[in-house]
Amino acid sequence: MTDSLSQSPKTMAVIVAAGRGERSGLDGPKQYQPIHGRPMIRHSVESFATHPGISEIWVVIGEGQNIIADAALVGLHGYNLVTGGTTRQQSVFNGLSAIAESGGTDLVLIHDAARPFLPHEQIDQLIMALDKAPGAIPVLPTTDTTIRVDNDHASALVDRDSIWRVQTPQAFRFGDLLEAHTRLGGSDNASDDAQIFQAAGHQVAVVPGDEILRKFTTARDFSEMTGQRMTDVRTGSGYDVHRLAKGEELWLGGLKIEHDKGLEGHSDADVLLHALTDALLGAIAAGDIGDHFPPSDPQWRGAASTQFVKHAASLIKQKGARINSADMTLICEAPKIKPHREEIRSNIARMLEIPVDLISLKATTTEGLGFTGRGEGIAAQAIVTISTE
Ligand code: CTP
Ligand code: MG
Repeated sequence: MTDSLSQSPKTMAVIVAAGRGERSGLDGPKQYQPIHGRPMIRHSVESFATHPGISEIWVVIGEGQNIIADAALVGLHGYNLVTGGTTRQQSVFNGLSAIAESGGTDLVLIHDAARPFLPHEQIDQLIMALDKAPGAIPVLPTTDTTIRVDNDHASALVDRDSIWRVQTPQAFRFGDLLEAHTRLGGSDNASDDAQIFQAAGHQVAVVPGDEILRKFTTARDFSEMTGQRMTDVRTGSGYDVHRLAKGEELWLGGLKIEHDKGLEGHSDADVLLHALTDALLGAIAAGDIGDHFPPSDPQWRGAASTQFVKHAASLIKQKGARINSADMTLICEAPKIKPHREEIRSNIARMLEIPVDLISLKATTTEGLGFTGRGEGIAAQAIVTISTE
């Protein structure tokens, strides 16, 4: 008995990445340039490698580029490297020949490494189209008014409804494509495989393409990407403890709370704001509260901790980042925090200049255990998330 998997056609991918990227004007081949922090070639290899319908990937690279290709693809599985040729057509042929030598496949998808963003749905659509036709390609309509230009002057209008833009991957029944390449290979330099396939007399179906599949060709294509940096998100955490003592004021989150004991410390000993200050500083790796406001410095004696928080928040702003959220926990048996929670949250919202719903305050006891349980002190924890605008 055969299971359903063995009945579905064996499908492989060829990614051509042996070009020199001359039109990009960049140093070195464009397929190894970083896009979203990873070499361009890695994106499409990853997309095929994580698609359940693709059994093997054949990456066609330039001569002598094995080390740089393996470094770009480190950690990915199921790919083989093949050396390409002087034209795209020759590179595809080398990929197809390597597959044939390894035992062949039923279906093959040919893709340009220069089109890094490859949605799985596109692969699905192409494979499905091969049920009805021996070849399938993604195409996009022409949306701009389309004309002929003669001698640098606008000439006749072209019916744009009949003009379609062709993308990759292009999917084919393997045997037919190999035969077409073998027969016509080397005779000219087709810019895609559908042309060769059609010239050999085969039908090519079209499926809707996707703008995201666009090819990176010029330097501008790359510089536009560097403008679209991914948001940098960072987190900082803070922790502080102060001793409870008779005759001290109790300040928590910038609020003076009536209680039989207060917190001891150099400033106003607002344990919650100290933990928050450390979390803010932590998010930008700017040291800790002691570095910025040394307890040995007399100017901080009895100081309102509000200014520590405001200072740390201003450092984040100076770095071009904003505060996304702050979540804090007070650890004590008494006083009860809940009655003061909303006032503390809005105090902190004002200090950080962000909406109050981005600020969370929780409290817990330690069931009578430890120094907080015995009422000897109060501890506070804070976590802050920031991101670049
Ligand atoms: N390609 C290839 N072998 C070649 C030429 C091109 O494998 N001899 C590949 C490229 O690496 C690219 C795809 O074919 O992934 C599409 O080609 P193109 O965008 O023209 O890339 P390059 O040829 O590298 O760029 P240029 O034409 O600007 O030199
Ligand atoms: Mg080229």
